[in-house]
Amino acid sequence: MRLFSVYRSLHVLVCNAAVFALPWSLTKDGLETTFQVNHLGHFYLVQLLQDVLCRSAPARVVVVSSESHRFTDINDSSGKLDFSRLSPSKNDYWAMLAYNRSKLCNILFSSELHRRLSPRGVTSNAVHPGNMMYSSLHRGWWVYTLLFTLARPFTKSM
Ligand SMILES: *[C@@H]1O[C@H](CO)[C@@H](O)[C@H](O)[C@H]1NC(C)=O
Ligand SMILES: *[C@@H]1O[C@H](CO)[C@@H](O)[C@H](O)[C@H]1NC(C)=O
Repeated sequence: MRLFSVYRSLHVLVCNAAVFALPWSLTKDGLETTFQVNHLGHFYLVQLLQDVLCRSAPARVVVVSSESHRFTDINDSSGKLDFSRLSPSKNDYWAMLAYNRSKLCNILFSSELHRRLSPRGVTSNAVHPGNMMYSSLHRGWWVYTLLFTLARPFTKSM
């Protein structure tokens, strides 16, 4: 993509875009929105920027994930990736679970990226920023806004 060929160097890329607690919806690509925004968006961006990252080595990618990744699985009973869990239909959708799954995708992506690019001087790490940090992430639903507001005095700030 032309936009990305104009950058000569890129040393740090932080993948932090996310949505949370959204009602079920599909993107124009036909995929569930949480999965596409939280994981595929970063995945695609990094593919587009991979050459410039490698040219800029040493460079690093940081993928913002969450402890929430522990509370999920995305494999079927034979251990294979179950795509229907990543992009569920409306009836199988649970916003919190979709978020948690997307955070597991972030970690799997980051560690595979590290495996592939670290020999070329590009590292990748996933990070848990802190529990219930107050940001605009919970704007999707007032219940979460209330919870995050109550937790705010006890949690880390941005
Ligand atoms: C998602 O993760 C949170 C921890 O951040 C956990 O409390 C919650 O139960 C998980 N949700 C589901 C549906 O597994
Ligand atoms: C699926 O993933 C869960 C959680 O990581 C794991 O406990 C379980 O053994 C896996 N199932 C299979 C069949 O690999």
